[in-house]
Amino acid sequence: MTSTPPGPRAPSQPPLRLVRPASGREDQRAPQHVLLVVTGSVAAYKAAPLARALAKAGAEVRVVLTRSAVEFVGPATFSGLSGRPVESDMFGSHAGGELHVALAAWADAILVAPATADFLARLATGRADDLAAATLLCATCPVLVAPAMHPTMWSHPATQRSVATLQSDGRCRFVGPVDGEVASGDSGVGRMAEPEQILAELLPLVTPQDLAGLHVVVSAGPTVEDLDPVRFVSNRSSGKMGFALAERAARRGARVTLIAGPVDLPTPPSVLRVDVRSALSMQSALHEALGPELRSADVLIMAAAVGDYRADAEHPTKLKSHAPVLKLALHKNPDILADIGRARTGRRPLLIGFAVETDSDARVIELARAKLVAKRCDAIVANHARDSLGQDDNRVTVITNETTEPLPRADKGWVADRILSFVAARLGDKGK
Ligand SMILES: Cc1cc2nc3c(=O)[nH]c(=O)nc-3n(C[C@H](O)[C@H](O)[C@H](O)COP(=O)(O)O)c2cc1C
Repeated sequence: MTSTPPGPRAPSQPPLRLVRPASGREDQRAPQHVLLVVTGSVAAYKAAPLARALAKAGAEVRVVLTRSAVEFVGPATFSGLSGRPVESDMFGSHAGGELHVALAAWADAILVAPATADFLARLATGRADDLAAATLLCATCPVLVAPAMHPTMWSHPATQRSVATLQSDGRCRFVGPVDGEVASGDSGVGRMAEPEQILAELLPLVTPQDLAGLHVVVSAGPTVEDLDPVRFVSNRSSGKMGFALAERAARRGARVTLIAGPVDLPTPPSVLRVDVRSALSMQSALHEALGPELRSADVLIMAAAVGDYRADAEHPTKLKSHAPVLKLALHKNPDILADIGRARTGRRPLLIGFAVETDSDARVIELARAKLVAKRCDAIVANHARDSLGQDDNRVTVITNETTEPLPRADKGWVADRILSFVAARLGDKGK
C-alpha cells in the first residue's frame, strides 16, 4: 500500500551541485585493523566465523595463532578468511624485523578469541615467550579477551587471579565466558561468548564514536493494516535498511530507538526496539520516542514503508467470501513524515526521509526532490523499489537542498554508514 502519489513538481530550486558518484571505497571513516589472536582451546573453530564476520563488517583482519591453536585449526582457514598470511612464529624466516612490534603497531584493536587459561596466566604475568604474548605485551590499542575453558579451569583461583590482575591493569576488557555446555558435555561458566556478542563488544572499539551523545530514532519495515482476524494489507518492505541504520548508528555511539513494523530480523546490539503493527501505532510510538515538542531526539530517520491507507474498521470476524467482488473502503493514513516536518520548529530533530519509487532514475530523483520540499526534510534517500525492497544491498541517491549524491550499489550496512556520515557531518557542522 505504500506508494507515493505522482507528487507535485518541486518548486524551482537553486542550481544543483551534483556530487561525484562514490566509488564505494571512500568511506575511510573507520580505521578498522583488527588483530585476531587465537589460542589453543577446543573453541578455536569458533574464531573462523569471527574472522569472517569482522571482514564482512569492513575490518582488515590479521590472524595470529599460538602453537597450541594450530593443533585445533589450520592456518589455511584463516588466511583464506582474512586474505593475509597467518602468523604463528616470532622467529619465522618470513617474519623479518620485530613482527610482534609491527603487529601491535598495526592493530587498532586486538581480539583474543578464544583465550585459554594458560594464555590469561601468561598475559597477567607479562610473559612474551611466543608471538601472541609478545604482541599483546607491546599493544597500546584496545584489547578484548574472550576466555573459553572448562568451568573448573575458569573458577580455579589461579585463573581468577589472572583475570583480576588483567582487570586491574586496565589494559584489556573481557567478554564472557558464559554459562552453558562446554566441549566435554559438562555445564557451567566457561563457554566462550557467542560470536555475535563478541562482535557487539568489539566493533565499537574500532569505530569512531562520531554519534556519541545523540539520540537517533529510526523507523523500519512495513506497516500492516488488518482487514479482519486473518487478512491484512501491507507492503514488501523487509526492514533491512532501517535495521542496518539502527545497528550502525549504535555502533557509532548513538543511543538508538528503533520503531519496527512486523519483520523477522534480530534486534541490533544496544538498540532499544519498539515493535508496532499499523501506521497509527507507528505514529504513536514515534511520538513517544520523539517526546514533547520533538525534543527527545536529535535525529529521525524514517526508513519505514508506512502504509498510505487503512481499512475503515477492522472486521471483528472473518469477512465471508461469497461476493464475486469485494469492495474495500480504504482511508488515508496520517502522513507521519510531513506532520513531523511541519511540527519541527528548529533544526532538531535532523529529519531524513526515504522515497521508494518505480520510475526512471531521473524521475525517482525528481519525485524525491519534491518530497524533500513537501515534507520539509533535511535529506531524502531516493531508491528504486527493485533495487531496495527485500534486498541485502541497495542503490540510493542522497538528496539535500544543496546536493544530489548518487551512491554505488552496496551492502545496506555500507549505505547506512554513508547516510550516518551525512548525519555526523551535518550535526558536526552545526554543533552537536
Ligand atoms: C583437546 C584439548 C582441548 C583444550 N581446550 C582448552 C580450553 O578450552 N581452554 C583452555 O584454557 N585450555 C584448553 N586446553 C589446554 C591448552 O591447549 C593448553 O593449556 C595450551 O598450553 C594452551 O596454549 P596457548 O595458550 O599458547 O594457546 C585444551 C587442550 C586440549 C588437548
